[in-house]
Amino acid sequence: MALLYAGLFGFSGFAALGFIYWTTTSYLEEQTDTVIRSEMNALRETYQIHGLNSLQRTVAERAAAGGEDTDHIYLLANPGYTLLAGNLPAWPEDLRRGAGWARLTLTERDKEARDEHDVREARALSVTLPGGAHLLVGRDLREREELREHTLSTLFWALGVILALALAGGLILSRGVLRRIERINHTSRAIMAGHLEQRMPLSGSGDEFDQLAQNLNLMLDQIERLMNGLREVTDNIAHDLRSPLTRLKSRLESGLRETFDGARYRATLEQTLSEVDGVLATFNALLRIAQAEAGAHRSDWVPLDLGELARDVAELYQPAIEEQGDTLTTHIGEGLVLHGSRELVAQALANLLDNAIKYTPRGSRIELGATRADGAIELSVSDNGPGIPAAARERVLERFVRLDASRHQPGSGLGLSLVRAVANLHHAALELSDHHPGLKVTLRFPLLRSHQAKHVTLNR
Ligand SMILES: Nc1ncnc2c1ncn2[C@@H]1O[C@H](COP(=O)(O)OP(=O)(O)OP(=O)(O)O)[C@@H](O)[C@H]1O
Ligand SMILES: [Mg+2]
Repeated sequence: MALLYAGLFGFSGFAALGFIYWTTTSYLEEQTDTVIRSEMNALRETYQIHGLNSLQRTVAERAAAGGEDTDHIYLLANPGYTLLAGNLPAWPEDLRRGAGWARLTLTERDKEARDEHDVREARALSVTLPGGAHLLVGRDLREREELREHTLSTLFWALGVILALALAGGLILSRGVLRRIERINHTSRAIMAGHLEQRMPLSGSGDEFDQLAQNLNLMLDQIERLMNGLREVTDNIAHDLRSPLTRLKSRLESGLRETFDGARYRATLEQTLSEVDGVLATFNALLRIAQAEAGAHRSDWVPLDLGELARDVAELYQPAIEEQGDTLTTHIGEGLVLHGSRELVAQALANLLDNAIKYTPRGSRIELGATRADGAIELSVSDNGPGIPAAARERVLERFVRLDASRHQPGSGLGLSLVRAVANLHHAALELSDHHPGLKVTLRFPLLRSHQAKHVTLNR
C-alpha cells in the first residue's frame, strides 16, 4: 500500500515537475531566439541605411563591448567568408553552406580565451546580406545551460523529497489502516473463541471502517438476538411442555395399571387426545413465533389489504362472539395496503380477538379498527373487560406469561408473544393501553413509501 502511494505520488510529482521543466526550458529558448532576432534586425537596418562600412564598425564595437568573457557572438564576413569583424577567430565551417538558424559548437579552436577544456554550444542566426556579405549573431548557451542544469537538479531533488514524503505518508497511512483491520480481526477471533458479547471497536470518526465495524456489530446483535430467542424457546419448551407431558404420561400409566371398563378407557383416551392437541397447539404457536422472530418466510410477503383481512377475520370470529353474547363493532377504512405476511397478520389479529372474547364477561363490547392514521396504518382491538394493569403490560408479551386473573381460561400464554413477533417483523409499533375500562391493543404499521408501493403493485 505504501509503495502504491509512493508510486502514485511519485508519478504525479514527476509529471508536474516535468511539465514545469519543459515550459521553463522552452521559454528560455524562445527568449534567446527573440533577442538574437531583434539584434539581427537592428544590424540589418544599419547595413541598409549606412552601408557595409558602418555595419563593420558596429559589429566590431559590439563584439568588443562584452570583453573576453561575453556570451554574445557577432561575425561579419565578405562573400568569400573572410572575416571582416567579430569575436570568433573564423567563420564556422558548418555555416558556409547556407543562412538560417544553427547550433554552433565552440571549441578552443574557435574561442581560446574561455575554459580550455570546455566545449560549448551556441545558438546562431546567419544571413547573407544583399551585397553578398555574411552576418552572424549568436548567443553562447552557457548561461542557459547552467540554468537548465540547475533547474533539472532542483527538480530531481524535489522529486526525491516527494518520493520520500509519499513513502513515509503511505507507510503511516497503511500502518493506520492495517492497525484498524487488525483490531477487527482481534475482536473476531475473540468472538470465535466464545466471547459472543464482544463488539468491534469504533473510532468515532464515522468513516468506512467505522461503518464496517458498525455493520458487523449490528449483524452480531442480530445473531445474538436470534440465538437468545432460540435459547428462550428451548428453555420454554423444557419448562412448559414438561408438565402436560408428565400429566399425559401418568394418566397413560394409571390407565395401564388399572382395569377400566370400555367407557372409562374411552374417556381417558379422549382426555389424553385433547391434552395432546394442546401440546401440539403450543408447539405450533412456539414455532410460529420463532419463525416470525427470525423473519422466515419473507418470500410469502404480499401486498395485503388490511381492511379486507380485518373483515375476513371478524367474520370468522362472529359466531364465537355471538355465542358469548358479545357485540363486535368494526371501523374499517379503505386502501390500507401494506406489505407483509397475510398468514401471520391474520393470526395476530385472531389472537387479539380471541383474548377479547376470552377475558371479558358475557355481553361485552369488542371493537375492531383498521384505519389510516398520520403516516401509518393502525390496526386495533379493544374491549371493555377488566383490562391489563399497566405494570403487567410489558410482561404479558413474554412467552407463557398468563395473569393470575385468567388462570381459569384455557390458553398457554403465547398469543400476545406472537402478536409482538409479528409486529416486530413488520416494523409495526405495538401498544397496549387502557380503554377505560378494558384493554386496547394497537398495531401501527408504517405506511408504504411510494416507490415501495409501486414495487408492490408490480409484483402483484
Ligand atoms: N383482552 C384482555 N383482557 C384482559 N386480559 C388480557 C387480555 N388479553 C390478554 N390478557 C392477559 O394477558 C395474558 C396473555 O395473553 P396471551 O394471549 O399471550 O395468552 P393466553 O390468551 O393466556 O393464551 P393463548 O393466547 O396462547 O391461548 C392472558 O393470560 C391474560 O391474562
Ligand atoms: Mg390469547
